[in-house]
Amino acid sequence: MEKGIRIAIDGPAAAGKSTIAKLAAETLGYTYIDTGAMYRAITYKAIRENINIGQAEDLAELLNRTEIRLVPSLSGQAVLLDGEDVSEDIRTREVTSSVSEVASHRQVREAMVERQQEMVKNGSVVMDGRDIGTQVIPDAELKIFMSASVEERAKRRQLENEKRGIPSSIEVLQQEIELRDKMDSEREVSPLKKAEDAIYIDTTRMTIEQAAGEIIRLARERIERA
Ligand code: DC
Repeated sequence: MEKGIRIAIDGPAAAGKSTIAKLAAETLGYTYIDTGAMYRAITYKAIRENINIGQAEDLAELLNRTEIRLVPSLSGQAVLLDGEDVSEDIRTREVTSSVSEVASHRQVREAMVERQQEMVKNGSVVMDGRDIGTQVIPDAELKIFMSASVEERAKRRQLENEKRGIPSSIEVLQQEIELRDKMDSEREVSPLKKAEDAIYIDTTRMTIEQAAGEIIRLARERIERA
């Protein structure tokens, strides 16, 4: 079989990246890789082991002795931390509010990027995150930068929480998203930034299917050209 292209999707928190990327990957028959889940998994383990998330060396040492695997599952993708399924545990508010700090350390990012580059070696992947088009796959055949208004993103997060039975206030969610955007965009090491050659997609008024459809259309164009 022909080796498929590599699709890099970046954008701020709660822009719908993972849902849209997952659907696009499924349609193309590609592997979906959620890099945010990898940062969340190490954050979860750090909290569980009482590691100070301000200490880059301690986190790097922890990551060194940690296996993070993303495997296909009925719900899309399961996250295995040293073999344990932590797919739900990494989505808690506690993890969400600490993950940007964990992801701000250079040593943590270097080790993660290395792992992620290994995962895309064979092509046919849709990878989403904050630095995929700029650091992880700078030569990706297709780069997308996806965003939506902060109000819309808070609304979507609230709906997602509702489905999981977690009540939440839209105002608080909006503040949390704005804070995470700020931390992710202003950090020193590979901040969230649109790659120059990325295509901007604003999903504020788009359905999941429309946004995924647009990515699939662009991907097919690139596949033909490859
Ligand atoms: O996409 P997400 O909300 O699950 O990501 C969680 C955090 O991980 C996000 O606030 C920033 C960080 N992250 C990152 O720094 N680089 C990536 N490639 C993916 C996520």
